Amino acid sequence: MADLLLGQVIRFGGDPFESLAAAEPLTHGGVLVDQGRIVAVGEALTLRAQAPAARVHDHGRALISAGFVDAHVHYPQTAIIASWGKRLIDWLNTYTFPEEMRFSDRAYADDIAGRYLDIVLARGTTTVCSYATIHPESVDAIFSAAQSRGMRVFAGKTCMDRNAPECLRDTAQSAYDDSKRLLEAWHGVDRLSYVITPRFSPTSSPEQLAALGALWREYPDCLMQTHLSEQIDEIGWVKGLFPQSRDYLDTYEAQGLLGEGAVYGHAIHLTEREKARLIEAGASLVHCPTSNTFIGSGLFDMDLARSLRVGLATDTGGGSSFSMLRTMAAAYEVAQLRGQSLHPAQLWWLATQGSARALQSEGKIGNIAVGMEADLVVIDLASTSAIEQAAVRADDLWQALFPTIMMGDDRAVKEVWLAGKKVSGPGLA
Ligand code: GUN
Ligand code: ZN
Repeated sequence: MADLLLGQVIRFGGDPFESLAAAEPLTHGGVLVDQGRIVAVGEALTLRAQAPAARVHDHGRALISAGFVDAHVHYPQTAIIASWGKRLIDWLNTYTFPEEMRFSDRAYADDIAGRYLDIVLARGTTTVCSYATIHPESVDAIFSAAQSRGMRVFAGKTCMDRNAPECLRDTAQSAYDDSKRLLEAWHGVDRLSYVITPRFSPTSSPEQLAALGALWREYPDCLMQTHLSEQIDEIGWVKGLFPQSRDYLDTYEAQGLLGEGAVYGHAIHLTEREKARLIEAGASLVHCPTSNTFIGSGLFDMDLARSLRVGLATDTGGGSSFSMLRTMAAAYEVAQLRGQSLHPAQLWWLATQGSARALQSEGKIGNIAVGMEADLVVIDLASTSAIEQAAVRADDLWQALFPTIMMGDDRAVKEVWLAGKKVSGPGLA
């Protein structure tokens, strides 16, 4: 039976970084869902008449949106989120690597993968793009957990063959072999996509980067994710490790790891040459604002969203929150520090369609439009008294939404739907 969700519908006809008119909210709107997909979007009254037999879910003034897409996370870092007092390289050595060692144990990986997906679903995130650990079991764990929940998830084995503890190192050959085996086992199965995942240049030899570049040429419809120019110290380290490279991006480019399906996390301290090459190649960047402030990395230049595909992400657990609402708030604050004021429609788009586009999936997820997969969230715009007292003064939807963006948390997420099925909210067993 079809389901008809009624409320204030947020949808985008284009990119709000090009024109704010691309945001096309419906204040008395509806979304008709059947067999996992959105089959109609429009005025509530029209849809009621069009689908009289549909089960109606009337959410009143609440917002109906595509679920959030978190374009860069490390699910194995779930338990070390909010670890105190370190910058990137020390943070990796002190907290991250010891925790990632535990993922050789499949039962532990299963436990964290399930815990992680339940945490993000409760916060309205319906798709993530995750790094696993070097252990193939950690990839099986996240894909199995996503599969049993019906979630669209991107993930890949993190490859490292140097500058990491011995038990977290693979080799150029084993990284290639394991990645290929996992890719063939999982890519395109249900809602799962394999992502070729060198961690970053400091932990991969040029030979390993080249092996993964060769794998990507064999499977060009896969995405490739890695980190780029996150901290100044890291960039200096890369210079020392790759003396013949022109810059950080060149360490990837030289090994075939630059192209349209490349997704680079952070990308804060870019040179003019790097920006020009990224634009030319049509690569994607992912802004991780809570991480960039928490680890002390720097302020991403949101002007890049005008010439590149830019997604938004928590960077769990370098980021300090699992919530894309909190992440939108941090993106707003970081932009303010650079003299840019992001409109609520731009923030919402980054967390949904922008991230989906960065993952080359904008035709499937991240928007409310006919034919899209029905991954939906229902957002209460008055989830706390503090938010409500600010929202009541609003005279348009965006002003009403902004207090929830800045102050909202999991209490604002009333319902979550995955592929047309309600997976959290009232009325579930
Ligand atoms: N650079 C390389 N690995 C990582 C990681 O796990 N988190 C962050 N924030 N940056 C990285
Ligand atoms: Zn990361």
